[in-house]
Amino acid sequence: MIHEVIVTTISEKSIVHIAPMGIQIIDNKVTISPFRPSQTLENITNNNLATINFIDDVRVFAGIVTKYKKDWELENIRDKDMVPQLLLANTHYNVIAKEFKDDERRPDIICDISKKVINKPFMGFNRAQSSVIEASVLISRLKMLPIEKILQEIEYLRIGILKTAGPRESEAWAWIEKKIKAFQEENIK
Ligand SMILES: Cc1cc2nc3c(=O)[nH]c(=O)nc-3n(C[C@H](O)[C@H](O)[C@H](O)COP(=O)(O)O)c2cc1C
Repeated sequence: MIHEVIVTTISEKSIVHIAPMGIQIIDNKVTISPFRPSQTLENITNNNLATINFIDDVRVFAGIVTKYKKDWELENIRDKDMVPQLLLANTHYNVIAKEFKDDERRPDIICDISKKVINKPFMGFNRAQSSVIEASVLISRLKMLPIEKILQEIEYLRIGILKTAGPRESEAWAWIEKKIKAFQEENIK
């Protein structure tokens, strides 16, 4: 099973990096699989630290992949051996990388969980949130997939938005639509 989460990591210069990732949780260990090259991979390789943010505010996924909102508020923590979590995270796990399974495309980083914290309640499933996550994956592959396929899938995903979105999902969806439009305009020129 893959959990779509936001991974926070920290660079050598103490800059916190925020990235959507699909992780696995098996036998109380977290596996993160960042593509090569990526800032997430570089940061974890440097200090072995990451924080897994389980989050129902899907604006974070859409904001980062569209690049329309990349800075999300972080919790202030003093422990220098921990990466801060997003203020919006429902639950977060602080993790420590223990094993790197190298791969030229996408290594697996297997981590111990050092702390699990529940910050706020999970309010149930929402179709619009799923639509935004699926659309965010499409956006991260804009340059790889045929635009016709992307437009066709967006058309279907829009149903979940129209029927079930709240203000956060609508805001995220607007970024998705804007990004696709900008991409089409750039590629028509
Ligand atoms: C739902 C979702 C899941 C993703 N899962 C992964 C993943 O497991 N590994 C990865 O490298 N990128 C994944 N991506 C794409 C990254 O978030 C994106 O490429 C990001 O820029 C990572 O690179 P960075 O660490 O340099 O920021 C995912 C994107 C989305 C929207």
